[in-house]
Amino acid sequence: MSAISRRDLISSGLALSASSLVARSAWARTAALFGGVPGAAGAPDAATATALAPREQLLFDFGWKFQLGNGTDPAKDLGFGNTQEDFSKTGDFKFAHVGYDDSKWRSLNLPHDWAVELPFVWDDTLASHGFKPLGRRYPETSVGWYRREFDIPASDAGHRIAVEFDGAFRDVLVFVNGCFIGRNDNGYAPFRFDITDFLAVGQKNCIVARVDASFGDGWFYEGAGIYRHVWLTKSDPLHLGKWESYVRPKATDGEAVNLELATVVVNEGKNFEKVEVSWQILDAAGKTVATAEAPAQVIDVDGKVSFAAMAKLSNPALWSVETPNLYTAIVTVKSGDKVRDAERINFGVRTVKFDADHGFFLNGQSLKIQGTCNHQDHAGVGAAVPDRLQAFRVAVLQGMGCNAVRTSHNMPTRELVEACDRMGMMMMCETRQMSSSPEGMAQLEVMIKRYRNSPSIIIWSIGNEEWQLQDKMAEEGAKIAATMVERCHELDPTRVVGAAVNGDNEKGVSDALDIVGFNYGLNRPDGYHNEHPTRPIYGSETASTISQRGCYQTDPLRNSLSAYDVNHTDWSQLAEEWWKFYATREWEAGGFAWTGFDYRGEPTPYGWPSINSNFGIVDMCGFPKDNFFYYKSWWTKEPVLHLFPHWTWEGREGEEIPVWVHSNLDEVELFLNGKSLGRQKVARLSHVEWKVRYEAGTIEAHGFKDGKLVLTEKRETTGPIASVRLTSDRMTIDADGADVVVLTVDALDSAGRTLPTAQSMIEFKVTGDGALIGVGNGDPNCHESDKEPRRSLFNGLAQVIVQSTRTAGTITIEANTVERDKTVAPAKVEITTKQVELRASVV
Ligand code: GAL
Repeated sequence: MSAISRRDLISSGLALSASSLVARSAWARTAALFGGVPGAAGAPDAATATALAPREQLLFDFGWKFQLGNGTDPAKDLGFGNTQEDFSKTGDFKFAHVGYDDSKWRSLNLPHDWAVELPFVWDDTLASHGFKPLGRRYPETSVGWYRREFDIPASDAGHRIAVEFDGAFRDVLVFVNGCFIGRNDNGYAPFRFDITDFLAVGQKNCIVARVDASFGDGWFYEGAGIYRHVWLTKSDPLHLGKWESYVRPKATDGEAVNLELATVVVNEGKNFEKVEVSWQILDAAGKTVATAEAPAQVIDVDGKVSFAAMAKLSNPALWSVETPNLYTAIVTVKSGDKVRDAERINFGVRTVKFDADHGFFLNGQSLKIQGTCNHQDHAGVGAAVPDRLQAFRVAVLQGMGCNAVRTSHNMPTRELVEACDRMGMMMMCETRQMSSSPEGMAQLEVMIKRYRNSPSIIIWSIGNEEWQLQDKMAEEGAKIAATMVERCHELDPTRVVGAAVNGDNEKGVSDALDIVGFNYGLNRPDGYHNEHPTRPIYGSETASTISQRGCYQTDPLRNSLSAYDVNHTDWSQLAEEWWKFYATREWEAGGFAWTGFDYRGEPTPYGWPSINSNFGIVDMCGFPKDNFFYYKSWWTKEPVLHLFPHWTWEGREGEEIPVWVHSNLDEVELFLNGKSLGRQKVARLSHVEWKVRYEAGTIEAHGFKDGKLVLTEKRETTGPIASVRLTSDRMTIDADGADVVVLTVDALDSAGRTLPTAQSMIEFKVTGDGALIGVGNGDPNCHESDKEPRRSLFNGLAQVIVQSTRTAGTITIEANTVERDKTVAPAKVEITTKQVELRASVV
């Protein structure tokens, strides 16, 4: 594995955001978000807002103005930094006053990632971040300004009002009504500011955020801008502490579980208060199954007090990968007879065990972790992944039997965690900075407090491949890790803590860990297991197999990589190699393959003109590469028979073509134009292959189980393009301005067969009550825009993502070849957008 310089990790050293990382409680989203997703469990009363009355939580995503600023020239940066007197007086920031002229600024809705809109630039130092012009050397494109005027009604008088960002990249300065409010300078942790004192009640107000992506957090594409949701919350001065509520199921016997309930109430009012807290536990049908109350306590002015209680849940419906049962706890704060605050928390009941001899157990059942690591990045939209797309991505991974995701290398957004909770996907949740500095600890704490009620999370990860802390700084590494692990245990004694360690697990950070992570290096775990037989072990990062979808030749001159399972980097393995290793060792809990989805940046093993990774088991759009079916064969119980490559090889007649089948059946027989080429046994955890002299026609595989023909699959030589096809993942979506449809674009011949080699440029027209928000094709060498309404097919496929407006109606999506060739039939799809109860939003 290469050294730290490859990472070029820059630490800004500014710790201001630590103080702003105050936790926020927010749960429950629309059931509609998960509608149509296979395996998604319904949420109790999920159509309500995230907060419960009297608290208001308003979505602050719509109606922003945006323009790029400048990292070096104040004249192009709204004059910010022009004199050294910028912060000298409160209220002087003109651009953040109501009435400032932003008419030339662009209108947009959040989440927004401006990096994905930028052109690719050939500068090798930008390779890891996807060749986007960001950083101190690109001042013209590294700073963005967001501005929004909004109403605060007179009825808000007396409330505490806060603005809450779920995440922005990266260094954010927030101004309200001309006043500087605060700063956050990490790319992934949420942050909030109480802005009550700065607001003009009963009037228009103005918020401005200057977002500076000049510094980075990682060595992968990270986006730029306000790429997660923003909220405005309004609460009574007597309120629940942010993310302080937890529900901790404690196993008793098989039939009942004790729930440890706790929260913190804060009094920001002018009088002391006598406060009661109660809990109501609801099952998935919304029926109350338990209640609890904590004895009343007095909270002084400016005080905060912890409340706790126990409840018993009889015969709980367990959360598992197959049955992701969720419960809801409603936490209510009362003073006198008046409800002053309330919130809703989803939780699940399940047990998790890591055993040094027998691996991982969920609810007492042995289960291998069949995991993938993923970055937050998707074709067309970059880091600003719409909520619905989170569920889409989880479903893609579940399609190959993936049962766990690792949020590499940063804390995830809430919508991904929720998708995993509801869909039965386990998670290893990772913090960005392995550091016990104030900033590092603040990031860790907010991650744990925010997500500790989520049943999907089975491991907290305190970091990844900290070369120095495992080597030259091993002594410091041991101390840093011990401090972090201790804090994890304090905040959440129910979960194990691990880290993704590449290299030496004998020193540095590893001693402190509950479970020992191994990145790559299949030569290390056996020895470690023998020497440390009581320490549970897992594959924190594996594979880094490299391939491109639909490509069957590796050619360094074209930056191409074959999709046969034949290429990996010098530190990694083939799919078949790593999984054989983990599957055949009982003590291995399982592992997380690098990666599920391709992502921008890290175009290993190539450089320019490759702009995204080749590590994915699926491409940037989620289209499966052939290895998807290797995993599906051995990660699911479903019969699998996947034959490749395609059979359209004009000009290669008579040449030998390797033909592979991924299958979990007993035997596979291959036919070329009806003639048998022999039957082969499928060895466990392997594939079968033939060399076939190419002749046009049909290859066909027959799969047998116990001597019986179970599945057949064929590939036929296709003719010229006759039509373009659009296939939508759903035909009806919510008219909420956020929901999306994901459309697959392919080309067919006159017999209706998909053309596996088509590279045609397709043009899209989206009309009606929706808009195109991104396109992609999964080609790591493609420099076409993610935002323009056109995209070439890459080996037969492209993707279009279309978002609803908040007006119910119809979206029409049309696709045609750019040449508008009359012999090619265009495609047209109509999507219905239905009226739904909108999430309460800022006006
Ligand atoms: C690992 C690293 C990942 C990614 C991967 C590529 O060492 O943890 O973030 O860079 O290598 O193989």
